[in-house]
Amino acid sequence: MTATVFVLNGPNLNLLGTRRPEVYGSTTLADVEELCRAEAAAAGWACEFRQTNHEGELVDWLHEAGRTPDCPGVVLNAGAYTHTSVALHDAIEAVDVPVVEVHISNVHRRESFRHHSYLSPVAAGIVVGFGVPGYALALRGLATRG
Ligand code: DQA
Repeated sequence: MTATVFVLNGPNLNLLGTRRPEVYGSTTLADVEELCRAEAAAAGWACEFRQTNHEGELVDWLHEAGRTPDCPGVVLNAGAYTHTSVALHDAIEAVDVPVVEVHISNVHRRESFRHHSYLSPVAAGIVVGFGVPGYALALRGLATRG
């Protein structure tokens, strides 16, 4: 059976392409999905690509990834929940799959409230500030991990 990697996107990422293009670029979430599917396929994986504006849904999806046999990992751009969510921290800690935290922008060059992440201490790795190609880098990181 083909292994399935999860790529999960949090709030406002559905607006990618029109939301603050000077920060996030003009690529749409559909483009990100295409990029992720291609990168996952190169690793021999199927890709479960999702976006939600709801924190609990991200928690549910992390649990689902944890229950998925042979899941190689999760690439997670939790958007603003990165900076607020103890629930996501606990969910990542609770599941037995590596989670790579991704941010399109370099959050450390931005407002101070974006400098703290509840996710980083429990993430397998972090990709920050490389734009949309950061998703591919995160997937490659999971593939390298084996
Ligand atoms: C983001 C950075 C977050 O601070 C912000 O709230 C987002 C997007 C990024 O991809 O750069 O929604 O996660």
